[in-house]
Amino acid sequence: MNDRMEPVVSVRDLRVWYGTERGAVRAVDGVSFDLLPGETLGLVGESGCGKSTLGRGLLGMLPEGAQTDGEIRFKGENLRTVSRSRLRDMRGPELGMIFQEPLTRLNPLMRISEHFEEALRAHTPGISKDTVERAALEVLGLMGIPPTRYRSYPHEFSGGMRQRLMIGLALVFRPAFVVADEPTTALDVLVEAQIIRILHDLRREFDTSLLLITHNLGIIAEACDRVAVMYAGKIVEVGEARQVFRDPQHPYTRELLRSTISLSTTGLNYIPGAPPDLTDPPPGCHFHPRCPDAMRVCEELDPIDQELSGGQRVECWLHGPDHLIGVDGRDRLRVREELSVADEA
Ligand SMILES: Nc1ncnc2c1ncn2[C@@H]1O[C@H](COP(=O)(O)OP(=O)(O)O)[C@@H](O)[C@H]1O
Ligand SMILES: [Mg+2]
Repeated sequence: MNDRMEPVVSVRDLRVWYGTERGAVRAVDGVSFDLLPGETLGLVGESGCGKSTLGRGLLGMLPEGAQTDGEIRFKGENLRTVSRSRLRDMRGPELGMIFQEPLTRLNPLMRISEHFEEALRAHTPGISKDTVERAALEVLGLMGIPPTRYRSYPHEFSGGMRQRLMIGLALVFRPAFVVADEPTTALDVLVEAQIIRILHDLRREFDTSLLLITHNLGIIAEACDRVAVMYAGKIVEVGEARQVFRDPQHPYTRELLRSTISLSTTGLNYIPGAPPDLTDPPPGCHFHPRCPDAMRVCEELDPIDQELSGGQRVECWLHGPDHLIGVDGRDRLRVREELSVADEA
């Protein structure tokens, strides 16, 4: 990856919270990352950790009642503060979203051709049917959908084909930035592999930057340049996907990898404990109650983002900074070890 390349998307200290009766749900809690042109960043983490909220928040597609803070720079403009109409104009041509359930997004009464016409006309009112058809058939061709299906209705397609249609509808504009939220979750394994291959090829073709949300680490390994690991509203580790998988630096990443590997081999091995309630996450590192390596400092202070070699970043006290952990090293005592000593006494 070229270091001098300007990022397309640059997120700084993004926060998103939902007002509820129980208090504010801090679904995204200070997230920062960059995305380079043509790069695919995978976003993983257990259910409820804030992945969809982050993805929607980036595109200004949050539900009523959600509040945000921080900065989302897209080609220099702060998407968090641009006007609604500006955002509407950018959605489609510049910013795309691929959802999990294509059926709820496609109109059963409209032919595929009409979906493309509607989408393209919203941004180019006078565009002719011929021009729409040319653009649509090109993108559908890349998606492996034959031109003979252009005038079919959504129900005439299989689930996998519908998902490819959705991707086609998002990509017909050749947007610079696309968020795909679990685009293959409802699909069988073969179709999933096909979709992943398409996403992989297309970003080369279109130079699209992709945020690919999934709970499937296999997909990340196959389709992503970098991976960001999310826990309780925070990105706890981010880096080159190969590097992170080979040598995970955050205990949560390690546990996540281990649980996934054993799920496919020896059966259940989930991470003990449950993710925290995001209205009232634990102080310090949100993962400390479940962390096998927790130290005293982890219970008290938010970990500080540390940059490791190869651009890998981790928010974990095991990586310092040492001067805050304590010069005498006492805080390096593992909490669990202390507890077991206390039990024996
Ligand atoms: N509209 C909403 N109102 C209140 N809380 C919400 C809303 N949407 C999501 N949440 C909460 O925000 C947290 C993050 O949810 P979500 O972004 O969907 O996570 P993920 O996609 O990782 O499963 C969860 O605790 C969820 O219950
Ligand atoms: Mg989700």
